[in-house]
Amino acid sequence: MTPEPTELITGIRELTTQADGAPRLADAALVIEGGRIAWIGPASAAPAADVRTDAGGRAALPGWVDSHTHLVFAGDRAAEFEARMGGQPYAAGGILTTVAATRAATEAQLTATAARLRREAEAQGTTFLESKTGYGLDLASEARSARVAASVADVVTFLGAHIVPPGIDRRDYLDLVTGPMLALVAPHAQFVDVFCEVGAFDVAESREVLLAGRAAGLGLRLHGNQLGFSGGVRLAVELGAASVDHCNHLEPADLDALAASATVATLLPACDLSTRQPFPPARRLLDAGASIALATNCNPGSSYTTSMAFCVATAVLQMGLTIEEAVWAATRGGARALGRDTGTDAVGALRVGGRADLQVLDAPSVAHLAYRPGVPLTWAVWRQGVRAGR
Ligand code: NIG
Repeated sequence: MTPEPTELITGIRELTTQADGAPRLADAALVIEGGRIAWIGPASAAPAADVRTDAGGRAALPGWVDSHTHLVFAGDRAAEFEARMGGQPYAAGGILTTVAATRAATEAQLTATAARLRREAEAQGTTFLESKTGYGLDLASEARSARVAASVADVVTFLGAHIVPPGIDRRDYLDLVTGPMLALVAPHAQFVDVFCEVGAFDVAESREVLLAGRAAGLGLRLHGNQLGFSGGVRLAVELGAASVDHCNHLEPADLDALAASATVATLLPACDLSTRQPFPPARRLLDAGASIALATNCNPGSSYTTSMAFCVATAVLQMGLTIEEAVWAATRGGARALGRDTGTDAVGALRVGGRADLQVLDAPSVAHLAYRPGVPLTWAVWRQGVRAGR
């Protein structure tokens, strides 16, 4: 068998690995072989390789793991955004604007948009990404959304329970989501999700959706406590969900529950800015011992960005996280929120034998992500050992 060509990346001034025990190395190098990391160590001891890339004193780190996006949609909601910036509140009902546009689009159009956003994300350092369904909300449209999501995302989440669409009785819709729709979508998905919020689904309904998803073999995640004290966080913890996302409004009991659980609190700072919600208490979550992830929540209604670097910068500048905490949350934290923190298919960290998903910044240290906010700092990206754009 012909050996795979090897690539040495050397000249790394600061290598953030996120690996247990050796999270950050100075003056480092690494070798990629067959899509995986074959060697990590000091640049002075680097072995020879078929291809040599000199990072020129730049910083390298794992690719971003974006654990919360909604990439399958048509149309945009710029007018709604503009009205919001003029003082209108954000409400769950805006989802229906995107549902109408998504239903009217072809599968090819939906795929083209989702793939464009995936490329946009990768060009900014994202190497692993989750996408939800949730803008179809009828049998055929949700099945189509799941196929599109599976074609562009690494992890697919079924979000039929995003909101009750018009023209169907609430009970009938819940029966559809937990019955035939789930059966149709589950083969394409790894997780089930529900929007547990006033104007969407209450705690009892959310429990029903999640338990049906679990019975169909899916992992659990939940949109909770975004616009108010929805009870979603405690439901997520009670059911052992991998993640509860948003977490803007937390009571002390929510913090305690998260801290005592393995459920990751996924925070979405770009969404908080775009919807003018108070930021979640990130500092208090970390100090209490909870795990957090940062994600873009890319969608046309509440957060139309693919930039994980923007989320990292906002988390540092506005939410009281250190650089190290924010970068962890956007890499290994995202992996944990997707159940991909350990094992041979783990992502979000650079370890010998693990996936070669990494980025080099056009900067000497990860601190520049927040120190130079808004400046595009991606110098190069490798996904499973393949350099993007090469
Ligand atoms: O995560 N909160 C629910 N779902 C999306 C937004 C949906 C929309 O407004 O289109 C979110 O923010």
